[in-house]
Amino acid sequence: MEHLNGKVAVVTGGASGIGRAVALALAAESMKVVVADIEQPPLDATVAEIESAGGVAVGVVCDVSDWESVDALRARCTEEFGLADVVMNNAGVAGGASISEVDLKAWEWTLAVNLWGVIYGVKAFLPALIERGEGHVINTASIAGHLTSTGMGAYNTSKHAVVGFSETLQQEMLEGDTGVGVTCLCPGFVATNIINSERNRQERYRDPGPDLDLDAGDDLDGTALGDTSSAIADLYVAQMDPARVAEQVVDAIKTNQFWLFTDSLADGMIRERHADIERRATPTKRTHLVELMMLKGDS
Ligand SMILES: NC(=O)c1ccc[n+]([C@@H]2O[C@H](COP(=O)([O-])OP(=O)(O)OC[C@H]3O[C@@H](n4cnc5c(N)ncnc54)[C@H](O)[C@@H]3O)[C@@H](O)[C@H]2O)c1
Repeated sequence: MEHLNGKVAVVTGGASGIGRAVALALAAESMKVVVADIEQPPLDATVAEIESAGGVAVGVVCDVSDWESVDALRARCTEEFGLADVVMNNAGVAGGASISEVDLKAWEWTLAVNLWGVIYGVKAFLPALIERGEGHVINTASIAGHLTSTGMGAYNTSKHAVVGFSETLQQEMLEGDTGVGVTCLCPGFVATNIINSERNRQERYRDPGPDLDLDAGDDLDGTALGDTSSAIADLYVAQMDPARVAEQVVDAIKTNQFWLFTDSLADGMIRERHADIERRATPTKRTHLVELMMLKGDS
C-alpha cells in the first residue's frame, strides 16, 4: 500500500512500546489512527501526543483477548473514521517459566493475548479489506517465533503460532488475489515495557501463585545474571529504540514486505535451528535468547 495519506489505521497495544511508536509514525504519515489498548492512562497520553503533533487519532480501550471487545473496536473505528485500511495486531505480553512449572492461567493469558488477539483482529477487520481489494495486516510475532529458548514456553508457543498464522494468511491473500498485504513483524530486542507485562494481566488469568517475571535467565545453567529480573530489565533499556521499528513497519506497509526482522541478531541461531530440522538432527543445547541479548546491547 504505497499511499497512506488520509487512510485509516488500527494499532492494538498502541499505548506503549512498539505499538505506540507505530501509532505515532502512521499519524505522521497523515493516517487517521485508532489506538487500541487495555491500559487507559498511557492510551490517553499516546493520543494526546499524536494530536499535539498535528495528527488525527482516537483512543479505544480494548482487550484483544476478548472477541466482543475486538468486534466493538472494529465498530468504533468504522464510526469514527470509516473502514480500516491498515490493521496492526500488536498487543502482547511476555513472561518466563519453564514448561514444567508454568501454571495453566499463565498459558491461557499468554495465548489469549498473543495468539487469540491476532486471530480476533484478523477475523474482525479482514472481511472489509478483502471486499475493498486493498489493505495491509501487520501481525507482531518475535524472533521467539523462530527459536525455542528455555524458560519461555508459553511465549515461544504463542509466537510460533503467530508466525504460522501469518504465513498462511499471506498465502491465502495471494492465492485469492485479494490485494491485501501481510507483514509478519519479528522484533529482536526492543526497549519497551514488555518486561512489566504483569501490569496488564486480567483477573481471569490470575493464579493465586506467584507472578510471572521475565526471569528466563534462571534457566541459563549458571550464567551469572544475579537477580535475573532486574538484570534483564536493565538489559532491555539498552535495546533498540521502538521508533526505529516503527520506521521499518511503515516501510514494510508501503513496499508490501512480508518478513520484517528488526535486526540480524538471531539469524545465526535461526539458521542453526533450520539446519537441525533439515538434517533431522536432535538439537544440542543452544544459546539462550537472554545470552544473545547480553552479548549485543543496543544494535
Ligand atoms: N520488546 C521486545 O523486545 C519485543 C521483542 C519481540 C516481540 N515483541 C512483541 O511486540 C509486541 C509489543 O510489545 P512491546 O514490546 O511494545 O511491549 P509493551 O508492554 O511496551 O507494549 C505492549 C502493549 O500491549 C498492551 N496490552 C497488553 N495486554 C493487552 C490486551 N489484553 N489487550 C490490549 N492491549 C494489551 C499493553 O498495555 C501495552 O500497551 C508484543 O506482541 C511483543 O510480544 C516485543
